[in-house]
Amino acid sequence: LPKNQPYRTAFHFQPPRNWINDPNGPMVYKGIYHLFYQYNPKGAVWGNIVWAHATSSDLVNWEHRPVAISPIEPNLDVSGAWSGSATILQDGKPVILYTGVNSQNQQVQNIAFPKNLSDPYLIEWTKPLQKPIMAPTIQNQINSSSFRDPSTGWLGPDNVWRVVVGSKIRRRGVAILYKSRDFVHWSKVKKPLHSAQGNGMWECPAFYPVSIGSRDSVDTSKSSHDLNVKYVLKVSLDDIKHDYYTVGSYSYHTDTYTPNNGSIENGFSGLRYDYGKFYASKSFYDGEKNRRVLWGWVNESSSVNDDVKKGWSGVMALPRRVWLDKSGKQLHICPVQEIKKLRRDPVTLTNHVLQPTSLIQINNVTAAQADVEITFDGLDLSKAEIIDPSWISKPQMLCQEKGTSVRGSLGPFGLKVLASKGLEEYTSVFFRIFKNVQTNQNMVLMCSDQSRSSLDNDVDKSNYGTFVDVDPIQEKLLLRTLIDHSIVESFAAEGKASIIARAYPQLAIHRAAYLYAFNYGSQSVRISKLSAWSMKRAQITGKL
Ligand code: FRU
Repeated sequence: LPKNQPYRTAFHFQPPRNWINDPNGPMVYKGIYHLFYQYNPKGAVWGNIVWAHATSSDLVNWEHRPVAISPIEPNLDVSGAWSGSATILQDGKPVILYTGVNSQNQQVQNIAFPKNLSDPYLIEWTKPLQKPIMAPTIQNQINSSSFRDPSTGWLGPDNVWRVVVGSKIRRRGVAILYKSRDFVHWSKVKKPLHSAQGNGMWECPAFYPVSIGSRDSVDTSKSSHDLNVKYVLKVSLDDIKHDYYTVGSYSYHTDTYTPNNGSIENGFSGLRYDYGKFYASKSFYDGEKNRRVLWGWVNESSSVNDDVKKGWSGVMALPRRVWLDKSGKQLHICPVQEIKKLRRDPVTLTNHVLQPTSLIQINNVTAAQADVEITFDGLDLSKAEIIDPSWISKPQMLCQEKGTSVRGSLGPFGLKVLASKGLEEYTSVFFRIFKNVQTNQNMVLMCSDQSRSSLDNDVDKSNYGTFVDVDPIQEKLLLRTLIDHSIVESFAAEGKASIIARAYPQLAIHRAAYLYAFNYGSQSVRISKLSAWSMKRAQITGKL
């Protein structure tokens, strides 16, 4: 690798070199967390895909392990060991289902088992079956180039396992349902668990329960029929590379999933796990802490040429906890609490009024490697700008149109991160507050503005944005941003919305990166509290 590496991260997971994409088969076994992921051992571009493996006891510090699944079997996976999931069976044994591309270039589903169950690190995996467990045939009419990414299994009260596999029929995305009693012999259910017209291939589908009225999670490997839950269906839309989800209800009798009223049936235009660069995610039930933990892949925004030059591509977002909001309408997604172990040397600011057009520098923080929490209040909401109704469905375009330098009334206010001394470069994360006259309610826009993030013009600097479902009359506005060299990962309102972005500053690197809070609205806003921490480096050791 070249020596000069200003964009490698300090507390986000990445291997020492080469290409990575989707997280695979995350799980906890005998107290050890496992992360597998799509990896090219030969270079910084996609190809030659194997399952790389890393383990951890705290989701923060990691040890690389040898490749867990290599593509070697002509009937199973010789042309690639693609994405899949782990399931903990009723007797506590873990098993992996994954997509293999066989010698005829067909996508098939395979099964792998740990060689030695007394090894908590699960170093070795075997594929004892000579045949795929699910395959496209003339009878089932599955398209052999759109049949991949088996989900984690969930067990019904009938003691039957279910998984979904992603597919498409023309432009209709499909989550094909399979059932099994023993996890080895599977039969396809005629009716898919769900499908929707117009959004193309559903990659990495996921289906899992979330508790109503609690942050605790539900063990999908127990055959209870818990009534106090709702279900989440997530799909990764290949065409637009975003992870969309719906919340709904599910019947084990008919295996039907019914999304909530008003949620994303129209081309999955609604809820996303993250409104930045976050794709092909996977979550698992963490029985150690009774929570659901989510991993997602963050692609580069730089050119392929630059990726090859720097020798690597792709990072994992921080592991995030997922729970259902009390409204029952959406999820909260926040970094797991263990990340706070890396915080040191807090800097705080309280009750500071940010006058119109003000910029304050936050000193004594390693601004290229930091965690910042900021709470805003003191807004005169009668001054909120009226939103043009045509913007209501286009928050990202609104953030593109009204970037950091476009003055508003209430906002933009927020953080400038990875900023150079003379502000030639910065990435900003901010809010703008509008009024919707049709509903007589305020609308809170959250943006991540990359347009000035680098002097390099060969990177994608588009802005990201979303509305956050908070009522600024009732609640303070919370923003948390974690900065890690080339990552700006932001959460609003305790994870009601998140945006992860990439930035490649040329000046604002290492000690030459600065942190600011700003208000570019014509009205003042108060920082009721700001806390910023320098972040320690996570220990990522071992050899792949
Ligand atoms: C998603 C994806 C999956 C596939 C894998 C191949 O990014 O395309 O559908 O299994 O990556 O690496």
